Amino acid sequence: MSHAPTDWWRRAVIYQVYPRSFADSDGDGLGDLPGITAHLPYLRDLGVDAVWISPFYPSPQKDAGYDVADYCDVDPLFGSLDDADTLIATAHDLGLRVIVDLVPNHTSDRHEWFQAALASAPGSLERDRYMFRDIDENDLDTPPNNWESNFGGAAWSKTEGATGGDQWYLHLFDSSQPDLNWGNQEVRDTFDGVLRFWLDRGVDGFRVDVAHGMIKEPGLPDVEIRDAEAGTDDAAMASTSTPYWDRDGVHDIYRRWRKILDSYSTDTAERIMVAEAWVQPIDRIARYVRPDEHHQAFNFSFLDTRWDAAALREVIGESYRVNDAVGAPTTWVLSNHDVIRHATRLALAPEEAVTQLAGPVTEPDRTVGLDRARAATTLMLGLPGSAYLYQGEELGLPEVLDIPDDRRQDPTFFRTRGTDTPELGRDGCRVPVPWSADEVRNPAADKAAPWLPQPEIFADLAVDRQTGDAASTLELYRSLLHLRKELGIADGTARVLETRTDTVAVEVTPTEEADGSVLIVANLGTDDWLVPADRQVIAASRPGVTTSVPVDCTVWLAGPGSHVE
Ligand code: GLC
Ligand code: MG
Repeated sequence: MSHAPTDWWRRAVIYQVYPRSFADSDGDGLGDLPGITAHLPYLRDLGVDAVWISPFYPSPQKDAGYDVADYCDVDPLFGSLDDADTLIATAHDLGLRVIVDLVPNHTSDRHEWFQAALASAPGSLERDRYMFRDIDENDLDTPPNNWESNFGGAAWSKTEGATGGDQWYLHLFDSSQPDLNWGNQEVRDTFDGVLRFWLDRGVDGFRVDVAHGMIKEPGLPDVEIRDAEAGTDDAAMASTSTPYWDRDGVHDIYRRWRKILDSYSTDTAERIMVAEAWVQPIDRIARYVRPDEHHQAFNFSFLDTRWDAAALREVIGESYRVNDAVGAPTTWVLSNHDVIRHATRLALAPEEAVTQLAGPVTEPDRTVGLDRARAATTLMLGLPGSAYLYQGEELGLPEVLDIPDDRRQDPTFFRTRGTDTPELGRDGCRVPVPWSADEVRNPAADKAAPWLPQPEIFADLAVDRQTGDAASTLELYRSLLHLRKELGIADGTARVLETRTDTVAVEVTPTEEADGSVLIVANLGTDDWLVPADRQVIAASRPGVTTSVPVDCTVWLAGPGSHVE
């Protein structure tokens, strides 16, 4: 299928920047917008097409900025609106698009709306913007229903001494993140304005946070906890039977936003939105990317898949099936700021192989983890569609598992402490990116330490250590991204081949004009896999692979034949 050149997002590789941990320009230990701007040439050279920047808006930072106090400004921790303008303009000059994060499910409790709600009486217009419910006089401690916060504990808290009078309020995340009432017209109208504010500043799109959560089942009925699902985060975050996830009403909001985006789109600059929707089964995600809704949705089914050939073949095939059916590009993602980095995750023992908000895990073998991470990425970047990278994965950074408790900041860690299911939280994938080995080893006396400590291994993996080393993970990413573009892989078509059970083989026909297919083969078996005689290795996740593909290695093969055993 060929696409008009304007559909940049259909083939884009989008790099996620987590601002506090990317690049610190002023030495306060926290990354900032000028730091991002200064490193945009690095991203251009890496070969990505766009950056998605996690929230940098004014916030008390209870959930690292996903608790927004003002949607139309920049937190002084990260810079100013002028810095945002400079970032956007610099990115565009370099040919990079910019996607910002939109957090519509909840605000911070410091948002002026929530402050006004606390000062207003139950039943007031101010309280109607949120999900307030009365306290039962005869049962003061039982919340309105059994919903649980994603970060642990009840999803309801009581306002404490609110001048307008006390009530329960709903928070699907931290108690500092009250859920908005999307049944309220003013909430809808205001968010139209938030979209316009950033579109007017030139952003190319939005990543929509918790896109499956904004509408709650009328009457707020109890969650019926089915035995098979109980206690697993993934199930709780995704189940279609959960009265606050994946309700049909969310789609009305996206149709409305799509019209706004389209009104800003030009032939060369389509404005897009991408849904963060943890929904299951995979068919449900297609509903978010119907032609008049989101352009893309994160493929968490792929991210959730363990290092298993049959499971990967199935999820890749299914991903194309459900997205093709609605004309949307399939997306791919292996890491983000909420999950265990894939250089660690893919080597975890099966019983520990969770992706999200994990509890304590034993440090797995680093070499196995890195081999698998490189192989998984080489597989992912060989697949047509759009791909998301998370800062630091191009360095092969592992999850940092031994952050001291007193340095942790993720609310999940605090809200689950002392419960039956204590969780370490997500700080381990948020440790600041190491730009120079020397800075990790010999921190400058006049600069504050990074907000989370960088382990010794980060020195060996620093950008300056890997640059120019052909065997490094960084150079692997660079070469894959350049080859992907050169061959036109992203616009191609894919066919998952039936193979022996321990390889994943995908035949990619790059573009209509290209001669010959590219065969992507990942070896997840226990023996080397021999390259067919009529194929040549054009890319490999390990250095020096020519005729024999070792275990936990992926190759891209050029040549006429597509026969694989
Ligand atoms: C999303 C974000 C996560 C945040 C949560 C609440 O899942 O990715 O980081 O904690 O929403 O906003
Ligand atoms: Mg700083």
